[in-house]
Amino acid sequence: MPQQDATLLLDEDHNQAMRLFEQYKAAHDGRRQQTIAAELCQSLLVHMQIEEEIFYPAFQKATGDQQLLQDARREHKEARELIARIQADRQNAKLMLDLEDAILHHVNDEREKMFPKARSAANLNLMQLGQQLEMRKSELMEAHPA
Ligand SMILES: [Fe+2]
Ligand SMILES: [Fe+2]
Repeated sequence: MPQQDATLLLDEDHNQAMRLFEQYKAAHDGRRQQTIAAELCQSLLVHMQIEEEIFYPAFQKATGDQQLLQDARREHKEARELIARIQADRQNAKLMLDLEDAILHHVNDEREKMFPKARSAANLNLMQLGQQLEMRKSELMEAHPA
């Protein structure tokens, strides 16, 4: 596994989530949709967890930015609420669209505000953080396979 900057690694997760939303919308078979929804929810939960455990605290320490993190944590909370409802409800097409909107908005905030700020922070080792994120992600994926 080549070493990766933390922001690139997290953005790859974002791209993967967007691809899964597209696949979900293109799928016409209900069982296929369920499989994609389950994978998507699981990978979003892991993604939010590694951000909250590793990336956000490091970002806060390096930049002192409280506002961006407050917004991000609130958006994660909203996404988790939608995911819990999707996991509980098999007829979830409308909720999946709501989740897609919420995630798109959140990803744009990270891409346009948080990641550029992280890249310009002098005292943030993005390569080292990338490695920590990767390790934690593998651990969590093994513990909770989709
Ligand atoms: Fe996030
Ligand atoms: Fe993210």
